[in-house]
Amino acid sequence: MSRILITSALPYINGIKHLGTLAGSMLPADVYARYQRARGRETLYICATDEHGTPTELAAAEAGIAPADYCAEMHRIQYELGRKFGLSWDHFGRSSSPQNHRLTQRFAQTLWESGFVEERVTQQVYSLADKRFLPDRYVIGTCPHCGYGAARGDQCENCTRVLDPADLIQPRSAISGSTEIEIRDSKHLFLRQSLFAPKLREWIEGKKGEWPLLVTSIALKWLDEGLQDRGITRDLAWGVPVNAMEWGPNPDGLLPDAVGLADKVFYVWFDAPIEYIAATWEWADAAAAEAGRTPNDGDWERWWRLPAAADVTYVEFMGKDNVPFHTVGFPCTLIGVNERRDAEGRWAVVNNSPWKLVDQLKGFNWLDYYGGRFSTSQGRGVFMDHALELLPADYWRWWIIANVPETSDSSFVWEQFQAQVNADLADVLGNFVNRILKFTENRFEGQVPAGGEAGDLERRLAKDVAAKLAELTEHMEAREFRKSATALRQLWVLGNQYLTEAAPWTAVKTDPARAAIAVRTGLNLVALFAKVSEPFIPFTAEIIAASVGEGFPSRWPEPAAALDILESGRTVKAPDVLFRKIEDAQVAEWIARFGGAEAVVEPA
Ligand code: MF3
Ligand code: ZN
Repeated sequence: MSRILITSALPYINGIKHLGTLAGSMLPADVYARYQRARGRETLYICATDEHGTPTELAAAEAGIAPADYCAEMHRIQYELGRKFGLSWDHFGRSSSPQNHRLTQRFAQTLWESGFVEERVTQQVYSLADKRFLPDRYVIGTCPHCGYGAARGDQCENCTRVLDPADLIQPRSAISGSTEIEIRDSKHLFLRQSLFAPKLREWIEGKKGEWPLLVTSIALKWLDEGLQDRGITRDLAWGVPVNAMEWGPNPDGLLPDAVGLADKVFYVWFDAPIEYIAATWEWADAAAAEAGRTPNDGDWERWWRLPAAADVTYVEFMGKDNVPFHTVGFPCTLIGVNERRDAEGRWAVVNNSPWKLVDQLKGFNWLDYYGGRFSTSQGRGVFMDHALELLPADYWRWWIIANVPETSDSSFVWEQFQAQVNADLADVLGNFVNRILKFTENRFEGQVPAGGEAGDLERRLAKDVAAKLAELTEHMEAREFRKSATALRQLWVLGNQYLTEAAPWTAVKTDPARAAIAVRTGLNLVALFAKVSEPFIPFTAEIIAASVGEGFPSRWPEPAAALDILESGRTVKAPDVLFRKIEDAQVAEWIARFGGAEAVVEPA
């Protein structure tokens, strides 16, 4: 049986994440991980904060603290919010960890030795006032094309033209506003991605039909546009240092010719995906420490390195903007670390324990807020902390998964959120569970009744439930989350329909045996719903499971035995109201607080 390794794109450290980030990676990854565990497969779900880069330095400076302290605090906050949303990470690491420093440097070293990394001199904007190099987007000025006064050095957000900082009229520092800037030479390391183009194309072509079309088309578009070599170092202080190599076969300076790179760090997009591996290392180290064992590289390498990882299926989750980095950037790193080219340009695998590439890449479109983008910088939309102030996590989890932007962008709209949550969770699932359990308490002494022969109604139900459960299972295997949510909702509906038709409250007066079988069947449906709803709404599923005396978390049921879970005589107990309906007055209040349709009108 295969093991399942799951990663979701690492959230940037700066700021609390909005629902769009949850929808585009972390939540579907969690639903999938929970499902895989319920199938009894050995599963590892890894995530971490993505901590390096200029935005982190600036956010820390604004908060008046060191980047390391800023990141430690934000990591704690993101960790706690994720847990409150039920994200079942096996480990939530940090890209600033010692493990990631080591691995990033070691990979760079290997790429250097293979000739895949080389030095180049580039021209960078230097701010005298800020005493630092400025990344392109931190140089602002007037756009030479449209005259917009606050165009960024990488792109004009008014006319969308791609720019070079040198194009800007009256360029200035976005940090201090100072115009005392000049162009200076700066030496950097480049990953020679262009060499990998044919290999990558062959690899991606082979994934057509297996990966979502969204993903293969984005990847192929990048390849069609011609793969550029990419700078993998930056003139910053906060990051994985290039020169102060801490580990490896040559601890005294792993990049012997990299003199002049002493002040540089690796580019955040170079070290961040390596953190997927390093976070697994962190996880193994933490587990060893907890068990009082000496850490062993084999513990984490068995997830990442062949041949030990041959039975691992590696599944990545991410929003569409991340796809190029995961289909091109990170694979170049891994292929380059595994292989070498000889003088004639022939490729050969040199690593007898190569690193695994992604097997399944699940990419998502955008979840919008009233048709506009969620925006961290403008604070538009609903953020994880605020969401939990309003409603329990399961309300959000359910709505997000049921509307996850799989085939196209989808939009969060308060009124639609209210309508769907009230209908699916309160009217269908919550109502069903409560109805049958209350009735059992009142008329069957809170016990699963014995007796009563299954009739046509139960036979039909069993058939319908088995078919729907098989459908749900198939969609989950295929990582089709919207379809999975639809199938799950239909399963809940089958329960409600059955109960209405079987009407034990009527039967109990005339035909107690009929009432008994209806109640027993209904209670089995409750147990079934707890099991199959767990990946989606784990907090409520646990309460439902407990109401019929079931352990938690539980195994995914087999369709044939779906209604044969509870033995007669077992004690059951109605839970408190599972889902309160969202009232119109609440929606009005939340729209006033977070903004509705008018909040997304973009500046002209
Ligand atoms: N921090 C990035 C984002 O939020 C994602 C990084 S994914 C990884 O878009 F590959 F770098 F890990
Ligand atoms: Zn412009």
